[in-house]
Amino acid sequence: MSGQGRPEGGLTLLPASVEAYLQALPAPADPLFAELEARAAERGFPIVGPLVGRLLELCARLVQAHRILELGSGFGYSALWLARGLERDGTLLCVDVSPENAALAGEAFRRAGIADKVRFEVDDALALLDRTSGLFDLIFNDIDKEQYPAAFPKILPRLRRGGLLLTDNLLWQGRVATEEPAAASTRAVREYTRLLYASPELLTIIVPLRDGVGVSLRR
Ligand SMILES: C[S@@+](CC[C@H](N)C(=O)[O-])C[C@H]1O[C@@H](n2cnc3c(N)ncnc32)[C@H](O)[C@@H]1O
Repeated sequence: MSGQGRPEGGLTLLPASVEAYLQALPAPADPLFAELEARAAERGFPIVGPLVGRLLELCARLVQAHRILELGSGFGYSALWLARGLERDGTLLCVDVSPENAALAGEAFRRAGIADKVRFEVDDALALLDRTSGLFDLIFNDIDKEQYPAAFPKILPRLRRGGLLLTDNLLWQGRVATEEPAAASTRAVREYTRLLYASPELLTIIVPLRDGVGVSLRR
């Protein structure tokens, strides 16, 4: 972890001093994570960062994940965190529309020694959901925000009972609370959040870390 006090992508709703405090907490350093965090900062690419990464790993361990699905994997940073939480014989299926991201992610997975556990598909996440079978212990959703509402009915049936759906950016830089008239992305995040909270099959809370992470347990 970088732990240098600067939120990756510059995106956090926490007061800067609190964010810096959290990022400075002692945790084992990992040069690969630090390198990918630096790449994200250089390119202005929005990765989840180390604080949310830790939450991903923790959730995967909580559900003893054998099968994880990640929607919107970017160049593999959040996938590396999820993979850390996988059970020994577990597998991680990643999808992203970008072949360039897939190539970078493949290199990161090789370097982390997890290439045999991860499959990366270059496709639209909604199309992948349609053509993939079986249930997942954990699904992490981080695709284009305007696609969140359409993704919801495809994601829910793929989550096992007792499994977790994690969703990034549910506070959308605070815009969900205040933006009027709201942009399409803000309306989509609000609608998706309404669907999460209204579903009798889910118990959802938004953890106000970084840009807000939805944690939904399938009952
Ligand atoms: C915020 S970035 C992901 C960052 C990554 N989860 C991380 O934290 O390391 C969102 C990614 O989703 C991909 N994406 C957006 N909409 C998508 C869709 N419908 N299907 C697949 N990938 C999508 C983009 O190409 C981009 O790489």
